[in-house]
Amino acid sequence: MCGIVGYTGRDLALPILLGALERLEYRGYDSAGVALIENGKLIVEKKAGKIRELVRALWGKNYKAKTGIGHTRWATHGKPTDENAHPHTDEKGEFAVVHNGIIENYIELREELKKEGVKFKSDTDTEVIAHLIAKNYKGDLLQAVIEAVKKLKGAFAFAVITVHEPNRVIGVKNGSPLIVGLGQGENFLASDIPAILPYTKKVIVLDDGEIADLTPDSVNIYNFNGEPVTKDVMITPWDLVAAEKSGFKHFMLKEIYEQPKAVLDTYKGFISNEETIPFWLKDYRRILIIACGTSYHAGLVGKYWIERFAGVPVEVIYASEFRYSDTPVSDKDLVIGISQSGETIDTKFALQSAKERGAFTVGIVNVVGSAIDREVDFSIHTHAGPEIGVAATKTFTAQLTSLYCLAARESNEREELLKKVEKIPALIEKTLAKAEDVEKVSEKYLKKKDFLYLGRYINFPIALEGALKLKEISYIHAEGYPAGEMKHGPIALIDENMPVTVIAPKDRVYEKMLSNIEEVLARKGIVISVGFEGDKVLKEKSADFMEIPETEEVLTPFLTVVPLQLLAYFIASKLGLDVDQPRNLAKTVTVE
Ligand code: F6R
Repeated sequence: MCGIVGYTGRDLALPILLGALERLEYRGYDSAGVALIENGKLIVEKKAGKIRELVRALWGKNYKAKTGIGHTRWATHGKPTDENAHPHTDEKGEFAVVHNGIIENYIELREELKKEGVKFKSDTDTEVIAHLIAKNYKGDLLQAVIEAVKKLKGAFAFAVITVHEPNRVIGVKNGSPLIVGLGQGENFLASDIPAILPYTKKVIVLDDGEIADLTPDSVNIYNFNGEPVTKDVMITPWDLVAAEKSGFKHFMLKEIYEQPKAVLDTYKGFISNEETIPFWLKDYRRILIIACGTSYHAGLVGKYWIERFAGVPVEVIYASEFRYSDTPVSDKDLVIGISQSGETIDTKFALQSAKERGAFTVGIVNVVGSAIDREVDFSIHTHAGPEIGVAATKTFTAQLTSLYCLAARESNEREELLKKVEKIPALIEKTLAKAEDVEKVSEKYLKKKDFLYLGRYINFPIALEGALKLKEISYIHAEGYPAGEMKHGPIALIDENMPVTVIAPKDRVYEKMLSNIEEVLARKGIVISVGFEGDKVLKEKSADFMEIPETEEVLTPFLTVVPLQLLAYFIASKLGLDVDQPRNLAKTVTVE
C-alpha cells in the first residue's frame, strides 16, 4: 500500500522518479506526486488519480533537479484528492515527505502542533511528519529526522528532502518496507525492488528501526538512536524484463504465461536447498497455515498434500483472524505463513503472535528480505520473479509448488513424488495452449452479474481461487463453494441466469461432481466446466467446457486453476477494466 521512491545523483531526478513510480503503481493508484529540489527551492507536483494524471500535469515542465522523492498512494487517511496526495510539506515549503503506512498517534500530534500555531493543509496522517522534522531542524536533516521519529507511533516508511541540504535524501523504516539501491554517483530509495531495477541490482534491505542517509556518493545506515549500523549488500536475482510487460497486453496475462517457469524455478530452488530445512513436519502434533487471499487458498491446497503425504493434521487460518484468536498454540505446533509480498501486515503480525506463543515459524515468501522472510525462524522461497499484476497468479502456482515439495519430502515415496513436479510445467503449457477456447467462453458471460464456483476435495480451494480472481478484476460477484455444500443453501440461487463453474477432473470425487452438476442442470443453471481433455460425459453436460490435460489427482490444482485465471482475465479485459490495477485494491497490504 503506497509506493515511495527517492533519488539523489547526477542525472535528472524527475524521469527517474516517474519511471520508478510506474513500476510501483501496483502498490496503490489513488494519487501520485513528486517533490524536487531545484535552484534552492522545493517544487511539489501532485495529482489525484493514476500516475498518468501526474505525468499530464508535468507535461512541458523541464525540471532540472537531481534530487527528489515520489509517491503513489493507496488512501488510508483522507480522500484521494490533490491536497491529500503526497508529498506533504512543512509550512514554509522547505521540507517534503512521502510516506507509506500509518502514523497511529497523528491526531494527538496534530493537536499539539496546532496549539503551537502550525496550520495543516491536508487531512493526512503524513503531514505531521513534515512539520515535526521542520520543527526539529537545526542544520542537520538526520538529527531532525531522529528527533521527529521519537514522536511517531505506528508502522511506517518515509522519505524526506529539504532545500537546506539539496543533495541528501533520508529514508526511515519502521514496519513498512524500504530498500536502498546502490548506484555509481547516484543512490535510490524505494518501497520495492522493481522500482530501481533499470539502474542497479545492488540492494540494501532496511530493517525496522533503521534510517538510510543518502547522497550521490554515500549511503550510511543508522538506528533510531543515530548509531551507525553495518548492513549487507544483496544482489537481486530479478531483472528488468521480469518487471516489464514484454509485449503482453497486461502484466496479469504475462504472469499467467510465466507459470511453467515459476513452478520449475521454485522446484529447483526447493531441491537445491532441501538439505538446509531444519525441521520435519512429522515432528509436530499439528501444522497451522496462516495467510490471506490467494495465499490462503494455496494454504488450503497444501493442507491436502501435507495430510496425505506427511499424515500430520493441518489447520488453515486467515491471518487477520488468527492474530486475535484464542487458538491454543505451543512448541508442539509448526506454523507456516504464506505471502507472496512478504509484507502483508496481518500475516506478519499473526506469525509474530504464533512465535510468542511458542511455535516454530516457517515462511513461504516470494520476496527475499521482506518483513515476513526476516520474521520467521526459517524461510522457503518461491522463485516466481516479481509479480506486478495485482491479481496473484504465478505466485499462487509457485506457492503450490513449495507446499507440494514440503509435503512430499516427508513421504516414504519422496523421490517419486518430487519427480512428478518436473512434468507440471509442460502440463501447464498444454493448458495455456487452449487459452483461445477460454477466451471464446468468456465472451458469453460478460453481462452476468453473479457466478458460482464449485469444487470438491483438493479442487475446492481452486473454486475459491477462481471466484476470487473473477470478483477482484471484473467486479462480478462470484462465490466459491465446496460442491457438496451447495444443497445446504447456495442451490437457492440457481436459475437460468446463473453460471456455475465446476471443477471436475477425474479424481476420487468425480462421480460426486457429476451428481452436483445434475443438480445444477435440474434448476436450469448454466454449467461451465473444467475437466480432462476427452471427457465426453462432462462436455455433454456443460454449456461450456474448458479442458486440461489428464494428470493424476494430486497434481490437478496446478492445472485446474489456469483456465479459471484466464476466464477471469478475459472477462475483465473484454469489459475494458483495468486488469492490472483493479479498483480499491493494492498489491501489498500493509494495513490491518
Ligand atoms: C488476490 C491477491 C490477494 C493476496 C493477499 C495476500 O489475487 O493477490 O488476495 O493474495 O493480499 O498477499 P500476500 O501473498 O502478499 O501476503
